[in-house]
Amino acid sequence: MKSERLDKIVASVLQCGRKEAGKLIRSGEIAVDGIVKKDPSLKIFPDKERVTLSGKELCFKKNIYIMMNKPAGVVSSTDDGDVTVIDILPEELMRRGLFPAGRLDKDTTGFVLITDDGDFAHRILSPKSHVDKEYEVTLAEPLEDGAEEKFKDGLTLGDGYQCLPAQTQCIDGGERLKFKVVLHEGKYHQIKRMFASCGNRVVSLHRTAMGGVCLDAALEEGQCRELTADELDRIMNRR
Ligand code: URA
Repeated sequence: MKSERLDKIVASVLQCGRKEAGKLIRSGEIAVDGIVKKDPSLKIFPDKERVTLSGKELCFKKNIYIMMNKPAGVVSSTDDGDVTVIDILPEELMRRGLFPAGRLDKDTTGFVLITDDGDFAHRILSPKSHVDKEYEVTLAEPLEDGAEEKFKDGLTLGDGYQCLPAQTQCIDGGERLKFKVVLHEGKYHQIKRMFASCGNRVVSLHRTAMGGVCLDAALEEGQCRELTADELDRIMNRR
């Protein structure tokens, strides 16, 4: 782990601003390896040096992994004319360098994973090791009979792209308007284009799981929380 400023470490662990962390450090309440340090700009190695507040250890996390229930109307990018998923993060989870690992369309709702760990994002999104993503889809028309087989065999999209096999399951008791779909890749507008190639139209789309981890049902639209260590491990190692 590279060296970090002491005020950054304290702010990150205590989920406060750098100014507040600086005050705490200058007041003499923070020690590094048992020695009080009063300089907020001091650089230390958080994996080798022990930072304490009034004797209690502060555990610094190098990276952060956030599960958000994205609302419609918000874009999953870092910088846009529109409101982004980063703009709506609560202050206590805000850090520099955060970005969404993978995109959902502006009108799509559900699980977006936001992190500042580029290697992790690359790992879960690269074609070789892409994690499964699960969606709930509502269609304009009942899905034609036999379409599930086409998804299973690998649909061909309008531009000729040959999709990987995907799993579908009707979830409205046979009306054939609502489906669960599991994708093993992530192409632009993929679900919408898949159903379009069956002569249908997606009217709403919600991502319910990534890498086998379900979107927390307690999260209202726009809310988020950090992934637990177990969830992170499941996504990274596809347990
Ligand atoms: N497929 C789509 O068409 N849109 C999304 O947002 C995600 C998958």
